[in-house]
Amino acid sequence: MDRSAPLVAIRDLRLNFHTFEGVARTLVGVDLTLRRGDVLGLVGETGCGKTMTALSIPRLIPCPPGEIVAGQVLFDGQDVLAKSEAEMQELRARRMALIFQDPTTNLNPVFTIEEQMVDAILSKQGIRSLWSYTPVARLLPTPREQRRQARQVAVEMLRRVGIPQPERRIHSYPHEFSGGMKQRVLIAMAVAGRPDLLIADEPTTALDVSIQAQILRLFKRLVQEFHLTVLLITHNLGVVARTCNRVAVMYAGRVVEEGDVRSIFKNPQHPYTQGLLRALPTREHRKGELEGIPGSIPSPLAPPSGCRFHPRCPHALAVCPEEPPPMLPMGPNHRVACYLYADHGPAGAGEDLDDAPALLGDAS
Ligand SMILES: Nc1ncnc2c1ncn2[C@@H]1O[C@H](COP(=O)(O)OP(=O)(O)O)[C@@H](O)[C@H]1O
Ligand code: SF4
Ligand SMILES: [Mg+2]
Repeated sequence: MDRSAPLVAIRDLRLNFHTFEGVARTLVGVDLTLRRGDVLGLVGETGCGKTMTALSIPRLIPCPPGEIVAGQVLFDGQDVLAKSEAEMQELRARRMALIFQDPTTNLNPVFTIEEQMVDAILSKQGIRSLWSYTPVARLLPTPREQRRQARQVAVEMLRRVGIPQPERRIHSYPHEFSGGMKQRVLIAMAVAGRPDLLIADEPTTALDVSIQAQILRLFKRLVQEFHLTVLLITHNLGVVARTCNRVAVMYAGRVVEEGDVRSIFKNPQHPYTQGLLRALPTREHRKGELEGIPGSIPSPLAPPSGCRFHPRCPHALAVCPEEPPPMLPMGPNHRVACYLYADHGPAGAGEDLDDAPALLGDAS
C-alpha cells in the first residue's frame, strides 16, 4: 500500500438525476482529494451536492434515478465505480463508516444497543480490532467467544464516548436514549470498527445547540485518538474552524475553492466563500446584522450557464456566463475556480477577513 497516495481521490465526477421535470445536472465535475489523516470539511448551502459527493465514495448514490455520467472515484487507489456490488459491500464493511444527521433513523428500534453494536463491530475489522483492545484473544475465538469479546469492545467504546454505566445501558433500546446519547452510540459504532475513512454528514445538525458542542468535542477527540481520515459535511463554518485541517467549498454541483483551513479562513478567494464567511455571526455582528449572500442556490434542472454563481456574484465579469471557470492554483494548498484570478495569479483580489483570526483562535 502506498501510504503517500491519497485515501480518496474524486476526479471530475458528474452526476445526473432523471426526474419528472427533466435531467438535473447535480454534480458537474467534482474534484476532491482526501490525504490520509485529513479532516476535510465539505461546506456549502443545502442542495449544492455535498451528500451526493460523499455518497459517491461508498457508492451509495441511488442509481436510478441517479446516473454517474463521467468521472472517477478512487479509494486507496481502487476504482470504486468499477467494482462489483459484493466487492463494494466488503470495502464498505471493512474500511468505511458513515454517520448521518439524524441518529434516530440510523439505529434500529427493535434491537438493543448491544445487538447493534456487536454486529457492527464483528462486521468491520472484527477480530483485528478486538485484538487491539483485549490482550486475551490469542487464538481464533469461537463465534460465541467473538461475540463476548465484541461486547467488551462495545462497552469500552460506550464508556469512551461518555455513556454512563455502559455495562447496564448497553441492554437498552434506542428509544431509551436521548438524541445526543444516540449520536454518541452511533459515533462509538462507527469508530469501534477502526475504519480508514469516516464520513460524517451533518452529525450535529439535528441536535440541540447545547449538545452540539459536546458531541463535536467528542468527535474531535476520537478522530485524533483513532487517527481517522474524515470527510465532515457541515453548513457551519464555525464547526470547520474548530474541527478540520482542510476545507472544500461547494457551490451548485462543484468544488469552487479548497485549501487548508487557515488559508481559506484568512484569505478566502472565491466570492462565494467570502460571502459564506461574511454571513457568519461574529463578535461585531451579534445582533443578526448578517450581510449574507443575496439570492439562492440555482436548481440543477435549469442552472445558470458558465460559472453557476454568476447571477449572485458581486464581481461577475463578461466571461463568467460563458464557460465554467477552471480551477486555479493560489498557493501550495489552495485552489479556486474563479475568473477573477485567471490573469492575476495568487496576488489577486482575495479578502483578509478581520474575524478569521478570532474563529481560528476558537479552533485551537
Ligand atoms: N433522489 C433524488 N432524485 C432527484 N434529485 C435528487 C435526489 N437526491 C438528490 N437529488 C438532487 O441532488 C441535489 C444535491 O443534493 P445533496 O447532495 O443532498 O445536497 P446537500 O447535501 O449539499 O444539501 C439536490 O438539490 C437534488 O437536486
Ligand atoms: S467566475 Fe465570475 S461569476 Fe464566478 S465567482 Fe468568479 S467572478 Fe464571480
Ligand atoms: Mg446533505
